Amino acid sequence: MKIRKAEQKDIEGIYRVASSTGKKLKNLQHGFLMDNYESDPEGFKNKFKRDIKLSDFFYVAEYSDNRTHVIVGFIFGLAKDNWLKRTPNWLEDCSFRPNFNMDNLNDYVMLEKIAVLDKYNRQGVGSMLSKRFFKDLKRNGIHDMFEEVIIAPAPNIPSLMFKKKRNLKLAATRFEEHNSKILTTLIYHKKIELDHF
Ligand SMILES: CC(C)(COP(=O)(O)OP(=O)(O)OC[C@H]1O[C@@H](n2cnc3c(N)ncnc32)[C@H](O)[C@@H]1OP(=O)(O)O)[C@@H](O)C(=O)NCCC(=O)NCCS
Repeated sequence: MKIRKAEQKDIEGIYRVASSTGKKLKNLQHGFLMDNYESDPEGFKNKFKRDIKLSDFFYVAEYSDNRTHVIVGFIFGLAKDNWLKRTPNWLEDCSFRPNFNMDNLNDYVMLEKIAVLDKYNRQGVGSMLSKRFFKDLKRNGIHDMFEEVIIAPAPNIPSLMFKKKRNLKLAATRFEEHNSKILTTLIYHKKIELDHF
């Protein structure tokens, strides 16, 4: 399994992963992405194309044998400015833990999306993607990373457990409107300890 930077040529593979985990009916056992990617394939592919350009941190997991190369997972994050352009009310909508250090919000990256094909779940692919993501955040001098997970109207348990395993700390909660539905989201934070030379 190879983890590498995403390129425009990966769009079909990325879309395949997204649409396998983001459907109209959500899969509670394997986790889910909120959008229904099958509803507008070209629109979502174009959005991913823009995100590859926009994000400095967009990676794919590629499985290869002698004959085939298959994208089995992806991860990408947005730097603070781009995240706040996309979700302008994010800060006001978040209720932070009383003792949360608000300095952690000075400069951060939001993990926008991570997804792995069902068939490859629980085989360490998500962990490999996340490790590479952190390594590059660290190399770029980013100290803080946030991730969100939906807990209502249905909880994304695999995503919650994935955060627990990587020792992320609960930072805030928020209500979010998505396609006329109200979602409850937990926001997790990770401090990235930079190496001192
Ligand atoms: C969340 C997701 C990315 C995890 O990827 P993955 O490749 O299965 O994760 P890993 O195999 O690296 O698992 C790492 C740890 O996460 C936890 N975990 C992952 N999936 C789990 C599940 N279904 N149930 C319970 N714990 C789970 C476990 O602690 C696991 O460690 P372990 O297997 O040693 O116990 C994957 O389930 C997924 O793509 N879900 C659909 C999309 C999604 O929910 N994305 C997150 C919202 S943006």
